[in-house]
Amino acid sequence: MGGKSLLMGQTLLCTANPFGAAPRDAFVHNRNGAVLIENGIIAAVGNSSELLHKHRNANVHNHSGCLLLPGFIDPHVHYPQTAVIASWGERLLEWLSLHTFPEEMKFCEQDYASKIAELYFDIALKNGTTTACSFCTVHPESVEAFFRSAKNRGLRAAAGKVCMDRNAPSGLLDDARRGYEESRHLLKRWHGRGRLSYVITPRFAVTSSRGQLEALGDLWREFPDCLMQTHIAEQPEEIAEVARLFPESLDYLDVYDSCGLLGSRGLYGHAIHLSTRERDRLKEFGAALIHCPTSNAFIGSGLFDLRQRMREGQKLGLATDTAGGSSFSMLRTMASAYEIGQLNGSAIHPGQLIWLATEGNARVLGMERQIGSLRVGNEADILVLDLLSTEAIAQRAGRADDIWEELFPTIMMGDDRAVKSVWVSGNKVVG
Ligand code: GUN
Ligand code: ZN
Repeated sequence: MGGKSLLMGQTLLCTANPFGAAPRDAFVHNRNGAVLIENGIIAAVGNSSELLHKHRNANVHNHSGCLLLPGFIDPHVHYPQTAVIASWGERLLEWLSLHTFPEEMKFCEQDYASKIAELYFDIALKNGTTTACSFCTVHPESVEAFFRSAKNRGLRAAAGKVCMDRNAPSGLLDDARRGYEESRHLLKRWHGRGRLSYVITPRFAVTSSRGQLEALGDLWREFPDCLMQTHIAEQPEEIAEVARLFPESLDYLDVYDSCGLLGSRGLYGHAIHLSTRERDRLKEFGAALIHCPTSNAFIGSGLFDLRQRMREGQKLGLATDTAGGSSFSMLRTMASAYEIGQLNGSAIHPGQLIWLATEGNARVLGMERQIGSLRVGNEADILVLDLLSTEAIAQRAGRADDIWEELFPTIMMGDDRAVKSVWVSGNKVVG
């Protein structure tokens, strides 16, 4: 970390929310830009020639033509599902029973959990993701493995023990008291330790009793600066099951709301099939809806209307949902969001997609003062994106008239080959 590093390349600085301002006016593009890193922090952003002149003692990394971006942030992922990504042919509840739960059972073993956590972070970093907010499994060992690996790598990361006390194999069940106690213990152990944050994590209403949800609501009241993550309204069959399990509730959101699990630091995965009442209530609290487009397409869940939700003023994130999601890549996730936007009748601008994957997701996690933008003073988690990474991409980008046309082929067709290098807290970890 010691010393200064100067990364030279194109920069794209966001000056306004591109869903409010016209996307083209929300960024300042510099073809000859540079970012100075000092002590793990972004110390300056400007013209490469000026910064080079001013900081002659810096280690220079010339990525001329590449795009320097904040590292991608993935606000909804299941790292324990890494090994079952791309499992064929089921809908949500069957997919959980057939593929997910048997794999998650293995995380009672600390060694297995550590092996998959390392594998997950290796793959995520190669794809340019420098911060993930992950569901773990019911086993505290799975949380230990995730946080230990993140800590050793210097990553900013968030995660929590999944709590579930019914409707799953017995090896994956805790109970209301144990879910609360183990969560509280892990929270005290990891929350706020270095760059790590604990996230209170009821899996979803199908696998928790009211007693368990209420206990976790109590825990959130005790530690209100924690995030809380769960799933909501992903598939019609799931919604029907929640209505059957909680006949006294108005709707799906009301289950969480009545247990103290609705708040501005709440992250609600999928949120596709919500009623107007539920959407109004989520907005009233400033809770975040997390769009998981590859997952929603892969499991056949439905078309989340991002543009419409943005117009309503909802707080929105964009995530892989690995491994209901079929990719680890935020590039592929942006491409999928674009395609689903088109199916909904609106084209999401590349600047809006990049903003969602960086600053928008940082805001969703309440981490915008640390990560998500190339703002001076932020932590130096930086991605160097090669805009010519394959022949197919290069031939299209080569005839672009502006940065958006140059970048869009990488969003639509790019993969880990486009990720030239990745910096975490000012240290190069990929490339
Ligand atoms: N709902 C409850 N658990 C899960 C999960 O692991 N993946 C997805 N996509 N939806 C869920
Ligand atoms: Zn999920």
